[in-house]
Amino acid sequence: MPQTHLHWHHHPVQQSQRAAMKGQRAFVLWFTGLSGSGKSSIAGAVECLLAERGRHTYLLDGDNVRYGLCADLGFSRADRTENIRRVGEVASLMVDAGLIVLAAFISPERAQRKNVRQRLPAGQFIEVFVDVPLPVCESRDVKGLYQKARAGLIIDFTGVHSGYEAPENPEIVIRNHQIDIDAAAAQVLDYLQREGYLD
Ligand code: PPS
Repeated sequence: MPQTHLHWHHHPVQQSQRAAMKGQRAFVLWFTGLSGSGKSSIAGAVECLLAERGRHTYLLDGDNVRYGLCADLGFSRADRTENIRRVGEVASLMVDAGLIVLAAFISPERAQRKNVRQRLPAGQFIEVFVDVPLPVCESRDVKGLYQKARAGLIIDFTGVHSGYEAPENPEIVIRNHQIDIDAAAAQVLDYLQREGYLD
């Protein structure tokens, strides 16, 4: 039930101060794309590059979050929306703590991603579309999930039984079927450097 009679407390230490103490700007890199597109692998490679540069980061990953914070959620439309809402809240708190957050979630609907973007201060949400066509993801089938979905052993599988809305204006597009993981990570780093996120 929504809470009422609440009052927001403005605390004296702000995000800018927390981030400055870490010597960085805080923001979210939000990786979206089909299952098997390489979101988690690219996010992990980007986190390594940031760690090498002494940046304070945290990677929120779809599979991992569903072991704990979102263990009660499945893959219905409503559950995915709640999954992304919760993760967006956590990402927002982490950014407020001064961290660089990497989030790798299918997040299949534009509205879900837009809600997270709007939850964050302007310029602190960077949408990274890992653009790999369904036939390529399905032919890779790294986890064997597409095969199970086609066999009817998994329901509500993205791309098979439920849709994916590609971003309309993502900050970064990675065509991961054309470049390797290291090149994809380098593309993200180039963007961050060019746009001043690593100043
Ligand atoms: S969502 O749509 O954003 O809430 O999904 P997410 O939290 O990113 O979880 C995606 C991972 O869950 C596994 N999995 C499924 N994916 C899609 N559809 C169905 N039905 C499903 N069941 C399990 C799968 O390993 C996804 O990981 P990735 O890395 O995307 O392949």
